[in-house]
Amino acid sequence: MTHVFTIAIDGPAGAGKGTLARRLADHYRLNLLDTGLTYRAVAYALIQHALPLENVSAAETAARQVDLAKLDRAVLSAHAVGEAASKVAVFPSVRRILVEKQREFAKTPPGAVLDGRDIGTVVCPDADIKLYVTASAEVRARRRLAEIESIGGTADFTEILADIVRRDERDMGRADSPLKPAVDAHLLDTSEMAIEAAFLAAMAIIDDVLAKRNKA
Ligand code: C5P
Repeated sequence: MTHVFTIAIDGPAGAGKGTLARRLADHYRLNLLDTGLTYRAVAYALIQHALPLENVSAAETAARQVDLAKLDRAVLSAHAVGEAASKVAVFPSVRRILVEKQREFAKTPPGAVLDGRDIGTVVCPDADIKLYVTASAEVRARRRLAEIESIGGTADFTEILADIVRRDERDMGRADSPLKPAVDAHLLDTSEMAIEAAFLAAMAIIDDVLAKRNKA
């Protein structure tokens, strides 16, 4: 059997894992899946059909219809969709359907970088590399504010911070697949680290694992 290489990246919203995942996928020539988009796609479908986010069977149907090749970041990246995604993400049946699709994706050669909340713990527990990327809630809120302002928008820091804390609580507090580092994950705290430094740190970890394997 051909070995596929898997890099699992988990962490809270706004810690920089998406950018890091993209850089690593480019560098190591691996496929890339932002699993947050799959939960966002389910939430978006419910919103489009004016269905309540608590409607589990509609969420299951939407989850079955998620096509990983057709996830539209431009449409799904809205802040409200992320918030809604964290509500449908608490349903175990919805998670089961999406996790199965994510695992299929990970199995496709030459392998993939997947980022999310439960990649190292649930989706790909045998991943070759597991990274847990985090940053303080204040730093994440400041980054989000800067992002909004950079495109000419305005927002209130206190509200953004409250939003981030609420999302963390929902993601870390749910019964099924809560956000937490896998026991064998490498921790990367980006609070005082630019994305380039985080990329270099991740590369050092990965290259070290690859070098040890090549020697074995
Ligand atoms: O990462 P992103 O902000 O796009 O994720 C949106 C929401 O989807 C998260 O707040 C989380 O509740 C859920 N999610 C999840 N498991 C994943 C990825 C995302 O529960 N692997």
